[in-house]
Amino acid sequence: MQYGHFDDDAREYVITRPDTPYPWINYLGCNDFYGLFSNTSGGYCFYRDARMLRLTRYRYNNVPTDVGGRYFYLRDSKDGDVWTPSWMPMKSKLDRYECRHGMGYSRIASARNGLAFSQTSFVPLDDKCEVHKVTLTNESNAEKNIDMFSFIEFCLWNANDDMTNFQRNFSIGEVEVHGSNIYHKTEYRERRNHYAVWAVNEPVAGFDTDRQAFLGLYNGFDSPQAVFDGKSKNSIASGWAPIGSHHINAKLKAGESKAYVFVLGFCENPEDQKWEKPAVLGSAGVINKKPANELLEKYSTAEAADKALAALNEYWKNLLSKFTVDAEDKKMARMAGIWNQYQCMVTFNMSRSASYFESGIGRGMGFRDSNQDLLGFVHLIPERARERILDIAATQFPDGSAYHQYQPLTKRGNNDIGSGFNDDPLWLIFGVASYIKETGDYGILDEKVPFDNNEAIADTLFAHLKKSFYYPVLNAGPHGLPLIGRADWNDCLNLNCFSKTPGESFQTTANYESGIAESILIAAIHAFVGPDFVEICKRTDRNEEVSAAEKAIAKMIDAVNKHGWDGDWFLRAYDAHGKKIGSKECEDGKIYIESNSFSVMAGIGLEDGRAEKALDSVKEHLDSPYGIVLLQPAYKDYHIELGEVSSYPPGYKENAGIFCHNNPWVTIAETKLGRGTRAFETYTKICPAYREDDSDLRRMEPYVYAQMVAGKDAVNHGEAKNSWLTGTAAWTFVSISQYILGVRPVFDGLLIDPCIPSSMKGYAVTRHFRGADYHITVDNSAGAEKGVKSVMLDGDPLKAGESGWVLPVFGDGKAHQVVVVMG
Ligand code: GLC
Ligand code: GLC
Repeated sequence: MQYGHFDDDAREYVITRPDTPYPWINYLGCNDFYGLFSNTSGGYCFYRDARMLRLTRYRYNNVPTDVGGRYFYLRDSKDGDVWTPSWMPMKSKLDRYECRHGMGYSRIASARNGLAFSQTSFVPLDDKCEVHKVTLTNESNAEKNIDMFSFIEFCLWNANDDMTNFQRNFSIGEVEVHGSNIYHKTEYRERRNHYAVWAVNEPVAGFDTDRQAFLGLYNGFDSPQAVFDGKSKNSIASGWAPIGSHHINAKLKAGESKAYVFVLGFCENPEDQKWEKPAVLGSAGVINKKPANELLEKYSTAEAADKALAALNEYWKNLLSKFTVDAEDKKMARMAGIWNQYQCMVTFNMSRSASYFESGIGRGMGFRDSNQDLLGFVHLIPERARERILDIAATQFPDGSAYHQYQPLTKRGNNDIGSGFNDDPLWLIFGVASYIKETGDYGILDEKVPFDNNEAIADTLFAHLKKSFYYPVLNAGPHGLPLIGRADWNDCLNLNCFSKTPGESFQTTANYESGIAESILIAAIHAFVGPDFVEICKRTDRNEEVSAAEKAIAKMIDAVNKHGWDGDWFLRAYDAHGKKIGSKECEDGKIYIESNSFSVMAGIGLEDGRAEKALDSVKEHLDSPYGIVLLQPAYKDYHIELGEVSSYPPGYKENAGIFCHNNPWVTIAETKLGRGTRAFETYTKICPAYREDDSDLRRMEPYVYAQMVAGKDAVNHGEAKNSWLTGTAAWTFVSISQYILGVRPVFDGLLIDPCIPSSMKGYAVTRHFRGADYHITVDNSAGAEKGVKSVMLDGDPLKAGESGWVLPVFGDGKAHQVVVVMG
C-alpha cells in the first residue's frame, strides 16, 4: 500500500500517515549546516561535520525507533489534554496529519480537537541554523488556552564521545538562559569557540535545560512531567544532559492563528572575543552573544522566516531548471526531473557520512564515492564540483594511489582507513572528465594540487590524472590485469585479507600480501575512462602522451580478452592463489554483475557478440523483479580467501543483494547494444517511484534510491535498506538522463543519443549547458529503440558528425530549439 503521494507541481512528497514502515526522512541544508528530518520531526543537525560538530542528540538503533528530534508538545489547559502534533514521540492520536518533504524543507501539519498545528522546517541558504516556523490555529468555536513546550536535546558536540564517554559527559554540560534564548556552551570554557542557541521570537512563560527536570525521573520523551504539569521547572543544567525547552502560553480566540519562529543555530566567536564577561571564582563566564543576536535578529518575525523559505524555493527552482523532463511516464519524469537530482545534491554534500543508516561518526568523504557523486551534481553547481575535485586530488599519493577517505573538516586523508583500494585512482579521471565535458573548463588541469596534502610536492591536476592512469598499469598481476589491493569498487571482495579474527576490518587488514589477486573490474574501468584521458591529452596539446596511453589501454583490453572471459560472461577476478572468481568453475559466485556491465560499458566484446552474451547471462542469472543481484549463486559459507562478501547472509549486501549502485551500469551497457526496452526495464526495477504501492515490503522512502534491496536468496526479497547515501543516485541520473533520454555532455557539445523502449512515443528535455538552454523534443512515432533519423536545430537541419548528433556549444545565454526524430 501507499503512505502518501507525489505532488509534482510543488516538488513535494506528501506523507499522509505518520506510521510509515520506517522513518521517511528529508535533508535540510545545502551548504554547510544540515539537518536530517523525519516525517515525525525526528533527526538531528550538525555544522559541516556530523561527528565533530553535532548540535542535537539522536539515538540510533533505539526502541522505539527514531528518537531525538525537534519536538513540540501541546497541552490544552481546559482539560489537560497533552499531545505531540508530529505524532512522535507520544504517538498521539491526530484528527489530521500530513508531512510534506520538499526541496530542502519539510512541513508537518496536523490537528487535534480543533487545534491545528503546522511546522515548517528548513535551513536558510546563508545561515548556520535550522528555522522552525510553528503556527497554531484555533479551528474551534471557543477560545483555547494552549501551553506549547518546545524540546531539543543537545549533543555535546563530538557525537562519538557523546554516546560513549559518560564518566566525563555527565559533568561537563553547561548552558546559559536569557529570556527566550537558551545557549548550549559545553566545552566553550576550554577549547571550543562555538556554542549553540535555541530560541523563539516570543516571550516565554518558562524554560527547562535539565533533561531530568523536564521529563521527570524514569520518564521517556513520551511522558514529560513538565508538560503534564503545564509548567516549566526553569531548570539550569549543570552536567548530566542539557536540553532546551521553552514554555509558551498561547491564548487563541476562535479562528485565531499565531505563528512562532524557533531557531536552532551554530555560533562562533574569534578566540579573543569569546566572552562578554570572563569567569571569576564563584561565577561562570558569560559568552559573547553577538553572533547569536545577529542571527536571531534576522529571523525575528514570521515574515522574515517566510522570506528565507521563499529564497530557498527560488534556489531549488533555478537548480532544477537546468535539467527538466516532460514525458507521459510521470514516474520517470518526476524521478529524473526532481527527486533523483535532489538526492544527487544530498550525496554530493554528505558522501556516506550521515543518514538513518550511516551514523555520521564513521566515514569521511570517499575518494571513489565522491568522484562518482560528482556525476549527478556537476550540472547543478559546477563550481562546487570543481572545488571538490581539487580537494579529492590533494589526498592522492605521489605514486598515484590514494587515501580511500578524507575528513570533511580538515580535508586530510584518513590514516585509519589508509590506502590500497586499487580502483580509487581511476575514478579521479572519471570525475575530472565529467567536469570538463560539462563545463569545457580545461584550466582545471593546470591547477597545482598537493600530493598527500603536502604543498611541497604539489603538481598540476593533469599530473595527478597521469599517475591515476598508470597506477593500474604499473600495478598489474600475473595475467597483466590490475592487482586488486584491499578491494576494488566492491569493498567486500577482499582477496588479500584472510581474516579469522572477529571484528577485524576486512578492508584494512591484509594478512596475505599476495601480489597475485587481480581485478577484471579495474581493467574494465581503465578501458572505460582511459579514452577520456587520451582525449584530454589531445585537446590540451599533450600529444606526446597519446600513443603510450593508447597502447596501455589496448594492452589492458587485450588482458581482459585473453584472461577475463569465461565462455558466457566476463570473469570477476583472480584470487590470491590465482583461482578464478565469477566463473562456471566456482561452486558459488559463478557470475558477478560488475565486470560484465563495466566491460560492456567500455565496449569490450562489442565486436564479436561477447558483450551481448554477457548481458544476456546477466539477465538470465542475476535478474529479479526488484532489480539485478550482484552475484549468483550467493555464498552459503564464509570463504576466508574472499573476505567480507561471503560474510553476509545470502541475498544481503554484496553477497547477492540487489546492490543498486551497479544496476545502472547494466542499463548503460544495454544502451550500448541499443536495447532500449531492456535498458528501461533495468532502470524502472530499482526506481523507487515505481514501487510506491509496494511500500510495506520496500519500507524505504518512495522518493529516493536505496543502496541495497534484498536479493532473491534473502528472506525479505524486495525489502530496501540504506536509503539516501548511495552511488545509485548519481549513476541512475547518468543512466536516465545521458543514456536513455540520451542528452549527454561530451567534449565538443551535447550529444543526442536516445535509447528508449519502442513503446515510448516521445518526450521533451530542457538542458542548461555551458551558458545556453537547449529545449529538446524527441519524436519516436517510429517506435524505435535507438537511432536518430534527423535533428533540427533552431529550424535548420543538423548534420551528424563522426561522433554522432552533437549540438554545438552556444554559450549565448539564449534558448535553442531542438527537434529530434528517431528511427
Ligand atoms: C558502498 C561504498 C562504495 C562501494 C560499495 C560497494 O556503497 O560506499 O564505495 O563501492 O559500497 O561495496
Ligand atoms: C561494509 C559494507 C559495504 C561498504 C563498506 C565500506 O563493508 O558492507 O557495503 O561499502 O563497509 O566501508
